[in-house]
Amino acid sequence: MSENTQSARPVVLQMIDIDKRFQGVHALKKCNLELRKGEVHALVGENGAGKSTLMKCLTGIHKPEEGRIVYNGKEVSYKNPKEAQEDGISIVHQELNLMNHLTAAQNIFIGRESKGFMLNDSIINQKTQELFDHLKLNISPTEKVGNLTVGKQQMVEISKAISFDSSVLILDEPTAALTETEIRELFRTMNDLRARGVTMVYISHRMDEIMEMTDRITVMRDGEYITTLNTKETNLDEIINAMVGRTIYAEPKTHSNVAPDAPVVLEAKNLVSKDVKDVSFQLHKGEILGLAGLMGAGRTETARLIFGADPRTSGEIYKNGQQVTIRTPQDAVKAGIGYLSEDRKRFGLAIGLSIADNTILAAAEDFCKMGVIDEQKVRQVTEEYIKKINIKTPSISQLIRNLSGGNQQKVIIAKWLVRNCDVLIFDEPTRGIDVGAKSEIYKLMNDLAAEGKSIIMISSELEEVLRMSDRIICMCEGRLTKVLDIQEASQEVIMKYATMRN
Ligand SMILES: Nc1ncnc2c1ncn2[C@@H]1O[C@H](COP(=O)(O)OP(=O)(O)O)[C@@H](O)[C@H]1O
Ligand SMILES: [Mg+2]
Repeated sequence: MSENTQSARPVVLQMIDIDKRFQGVHALKKCNLELRKGEVHALVGENGAGKSTLMKCLTGIHKPEEGRIVYNGKEVSYKNPKEAQEDGISIVHQELNLMNHLTAAQNIFIGRESKGFMLNDSIINQKTQELFDHLKLNISPTEKVGNLTVGKQQMVEISKAISFDSSVLILDEPTAALTETEIRELFRTMNDLRARGVTMVYISHRMDEIMEMTDRITVMRDGEYITTLNTKETNLDEIINAMVGRTIYAEPKTHSNVAPDAPVVLEAKNLVSKDVKDVSFQLHKGEILGLAGLMGAGRTETARLIFGADPRTSGEIYKNGQQVTIRTPQDAVKAGIGYLSEDRKRFGLAIGLSIADNTILAAAEDFCKMGVIDEQKVRQVTEEYIKKINIKTPSISQLIRNLSGGNQQKVIIAKWLVRNCDVLIFDEPTRGIDVGAKSEIYKLMNDLAAEGKSIIMISSELEEVLRMSDRIICMCEGRLTKVLDIQEASQEVIMKYATMRN
């Protein structure tokens, strides 16, 4: 649709200077949002930016401390989501709120008996069928929701929202759990609704979806309104820069940042195990050494040998010129080597514990005074690292499981830094992390290297390897096939050596 019709659309809703605090967190700082009739409006921002909170303030789930909401020309303030819904504003949360043992129809009409007349199953089945027909959905009203796919369940939630004659529909990360086919179906439904003049707020991390589906994009950062862009007139770089508030490292590195006389910190000589075939390399002070290769190249296996996590058949490891005996991860940590596993939840963190507990996990003995944990010191050190590496959390006692992936990753980094590790092995450090948090991890790695820490980075994303590494080791089927200086590296060259069997 052309820009003219876009701006000609009437404004249906304005949120003005919305302010909201939770204990210790200023979640929304005078935040604004303007919605026009019949538009799909993306709300983007890093995890914790305040997107869900803003929508919860709109729909009466949270009460903002300040600010105004103007809807269809008059000021509104809903006490609960039901009130908002009855006024035409519905929200579909990321977590589905359906009852598996009830039918689709029962889920849609649950709780509405109180409006003066009883609804029996045959009436609600008929009404639901009409609703599904209207939305061109192929779902049986009498099917138990528990038997439906996640995608269909999502559609039932949306149908339920629509059944209130919503003129504003909020979809909070609706596609996170959907398959590609289900996403297509959702988009078709959204396009139908848009054609009927329904206004939608669409929260998603997936930039491709946002570029495809939305008319305008509002960017939030740290609880603040940053800007609103017309989708047709913007691009990915502009959106991401607005999200993270700085230019991210999108370009490949052109030269090594390592001093020419930087000493060798770690040396692996002829490492051999079941999966690793005679691997030798050196790592310098302040260096980011990329480990590139395809699945099964032996990169993680090499890292695990250095970290003492797997048995070694033969080979030697030197730290600062001295041979070190590494048979267990404890040996490695003692030698100043930390490992950030690609599977954070299983290996890196105790997700049921707090940030503070995780931060001191690898160095607990340093925090004990006569056998008792020195809480004061724990607090002080944890707070120092939260600040230093910018962990977004309301407090040091926040449980790990409540943090975003990017922030969990940072807690692991804090854990190894507290333990004085000067060699850090990052295994797929940005897998499953959103684009903004990704660039923060990159910045952190660059900062650590600039401070003189040495990093081995395993990554399957060639762009990431080229963006971060000073040198690149290519591996194939357990062997080291090439060491590349960053100047001579490109995706093509890396792929050549990553597929070079010998
Ligand atoms: N119920 C709550 N209690 C305390 N803090 C909260 C609550 N809900 C959200 N927050 C905090 O408010 C900030 C914004 O969160 P949220 O709106 O969920 O962000 P987004 O949806 O953009 O990821 C975060 O720092 C989050 O930890
Ligand atoms: Mg959210």
